[in-house]
Amino acid sequence: MFTERIKSIDISGIRKMFEGAGLNSINLGLGQPDFDTPQHIKDAAIEAINKGLTGYTMNLGFPELRSALSRKFESENHFTVSSDEIIVTSGASEALHLALQALVDKGDEVLIPDPGFLSYFALAKIAGGKVVGVPLDEKLTMTPEGVNELITSRTCALIVNSPSNPTGTVQTRTQIKALAEIADDNDITIISDEVYEHFIYEGEHVSPAQFTDNVITINAVSKTYAMTGWRIGYAAARKEYVEQMLKIHQYIQACANSIAQKAAQAAIEGPQDCVTVMRESFRKRRDITMEGLGAMGIKCVQPQGAFYAFPEVEDEEAPPKLLKKGVIVVPGSAFGENGKGHIRISYATSEENLRRALKVMENVL
Ligand SMILES: Cc1ncc(COP(=O)(O)O)c(C=O)c1O
Repeated sequence: MFTERIKSIDISGIRKMFEGAGLNSINLGLGQPDFDTPQHIKDAAIEAINKGLTGYTMNLGFPELRSALSRKFESENHFTVSSDEIIVTSGASEALHLALQALVDKGDEVLIPDPGFLSYFALAKIAGGKVVGVPLDEKLTMTPEGVNELITSRTCALIVNSPSNPTGTVQTRTQIKALAEIADDNDITIISDEVYEHFIYEGEHVSPAQFTDNVITINAVSKTYAMTGWRIGYAAARKEYVEQMLKIHQYIQACANSIAQKAAQAAIEGPQDCVTVMRESFRKRRDITMEGLGAMGIKCVQPQGAFYAFPEVEDEEAPPKLLKKGVIVVPGSAFGENGKGHIRISYATSEENLRRALKVMENVL
C-alpha cells in the first residue's frame, strides 16, 4: 500500500529517545534554543495580525522580507543575491526539501556529511536519491579530499553544514573554498545549510556562495532568534534554481505563514543584541560541558559552534542507561553509520540542568 521510498525511511532516532522519558528528565536531546523569542519580534507578529496581514503572501514571500534578507546576505555573508533570488519557506526544513526535490532524479547520488543532520538522509531518499555518506576527519570536519574521492558521474549535490549538527564543528575558509571549487569542477550543486551561522565560538562562518554560484544557501530564523515554532526559513540561489524550487513550494505550501514572515522581518532588521546574549550563554555552557566531559576522561572534539557536543562513548547502551537515570541524549548512530561510538549532547539547557546531567553521566558512564 505504501511506497518503497517512504517505507525505507525510519522514524527519527531523536524522537525515539523521547518516548519513555520521565516528566522530570533533563533533556539534552533537543535541537532548539531554550530561550523565548525576543519581545520586539513577538510585537511585530501581533502588529501584523492587528493590521489584517492574514492572507496569502506572494509565493516567494513578502518583498520587504526578501529585500531585508538580500541586504543580510550582502553584509553578513558577503555575497550578492537579489530579492527575486530568495524564497521564504516553512523553516529550513522545507527549503532543504525544495532543494533536493529540484535537484535529485531517481538514483542520483547526494553527498551528505556522515555523521550529519538526519533530515538530509531522509529528504534525499524521499527525493528518490542515493545517499552517499562522507566520512569526517579526526577533527570531525568534511575534507575536500574526502568529498573528491566519492564523486561519480551520478553525483548531483553535496550538503555542507557548518557549524554542524551533530558535531558542533566549523569548516575552515580553506575547506569551504576548496569544496566550492569541487562543485564548479564537477558541475554539482552545494546545498549549504547555515542555520547555526550565528552560534560560533571559535573560527568564522564562511558561505560557499562567496566562491561559487553553484550553490543553494539555506538558512532560517529558527535557531538564531529562538523561533523554531514560527517555521520561517529561506533559500537563496541564482534564478534558475529558484524558479524550479518555487514550483514545488507553490503546490505544497503556497506561501510561508504571513504573520511569521513579519516577525522574521523584525528579527532580521531589528536589534541583534539578543543573538549576542544567546551566543555568549551557549559558549559558557559549551565550556561547562567540555570541562565535565574532560573530568570524566571522555574524549570529545572541541565544538566550535551550534549547541551540540559529540563525545566518544563506545557503550551503545549508554543512551538508554542515561534515560533510566533521567537524562536524555541521542545515540550517535542516529546521525549516520559513522556516528556510532558517540552520543550527541545538546547543551541548549540551563547551566543548572547541565551540571546535574553531567553528574549523572559521571555515575553512569
Ligand atoms: C542543521 C539543521 N538544519 C535544519 C534544521 C531545521 O530547521 P527549521 O526548524 O528551520 O526547519 C535543523 C533543526 O534542527 C538543523 O539542525
